[in-house]
Amino acid sequence: SKGCKLVGCGSAVPSLKVSNDDLSKIVDTSDEWISVRTGIHNRRVLSGNESLTALAVEAARKALRMAQVDPDDVDLVLMCTSTPEDLFGSGPQVQKSLGCKRNPLAYDITAACSGFILGLVSAACHIRGGGFNNVLVIGADSLSRHVDWTDRGTCILFGDAAGAVVVQACDNEEDGLLGFDLHSDGEGHRHLNVSFKEQETHNEMGSNGSVLGFPPRRHSYSCLQMNGKEVFRFAVRCVPQSIELALGKAGLSAANVDWLLLHQANQRIVDAVATRLDIPSERVISNLANYGNTSAASIPLALDEAVRSGKVKSGQTIAAAGFGAGLTWGSAIVRW
Ligand code: ACO
Repeated sequence: SKGCKLVGCGSAVPSLKVSNDDLSKIVDTSDEWISVRTGIHNRRVLSGNESLTALAVEAARKALRMAQVDPDDVDLVLMCTSTPEDLFGSGPQVQKSLGCKRNPLAYDITAACSGFILGLVSAACHIRGGGFNNVLVIGADSLSRHVDWTDRGTCILFGDAAGAVVVQACDNEEDGLLGFDLHSDGEGHRHLNVSFKEQETHNEMGSNGSVLGFPPRRHSYSCLQMNGKEVFRFAVRCVPQSIELALGKAGLSAANVDWLLLHQANQRIVDAVATRLDIPSERVISNLANYGNTSAASIPLALDEAVRSGKVKSGQTIAAAGFGAGLTWGSAIVRW
């Protein structure tokens, strides 16, 4: 049977850098509070006429270049985003801009901060069972467009970015996805969401026989709502378990892992998970100080930085895990 391996990565961030001090001018907060509680110092925010789709395309181009894969040889684009610039999906627009002229399949995957891990596993399934050969997995999010910029409890956490990897078919012996583990639990939805704003609907008949509440008014979505303490607890409880399950499927233990690469939400979460797995900080990848929580982009963005700086070397084993809204969480053990 076929295997699949990671053959390239790339990333892109918006030009506007927003520091903790900048935020302290718009909400009642301080550099010290944000740094101590989260480890975040700066984040990038889309501005002017920058678009998330363009960032995704830039990240994907870099990944294809590293992989030495021609856009025409891409047969699947998985756009992992919860903040698309079109609710119908933005994958096909990315495909068009990349110039993948041989008509690959492109679609979106919506799973907040777990989106990239789900995309990676989906890519592997499409390759192993569906005959695909070169899959672009893109994680791209712009939560800056969905946070309440007057809510200091949430607006300080997030940043915008895009990251991408190329997953390629290979012989089974070279397989680079060694194990994975995926979960969701809608019970925890109330702790973190960007929900559809319900309007009061009256579907009973009006006095003149018309259906009240019809035609519906245009709807919109609420700003991001979060119970930070619950999300924190959930991450620290579920992520180590998930990584251990994925490691077990790969026949490995945490001691065999070269790098721990978690969704970059909060340095305290990263540290707590590393401690539970007994992985020393020298083997933990973290760049959230510069970018904040970039949702589905955070894992490929941090991977790309670590690969291009020479930190992550060919043949090394990475335990990656995403977690977030849904609630969703999952892990993938990959060989770079
Ligand atoms: N500046 C100053 N004070 C603040 C700020 C701020 N930016 N935000 C909150 N506070 C205050 C609160 O009002 C509260 O004050 P009070 O004690 O007078 O009521 C106090 O600080 C403590 O607030 P908590 O919310 O209890 O602080 P906590 O220690 O839990 O830290 C944080 C908050 C950083 C949000 C933390 O809970 C966290 O990181 N949780 C995980 C969040 C996360 O990772 N979410 C993303 C998941 S991924 C996804 O899918 C999007």
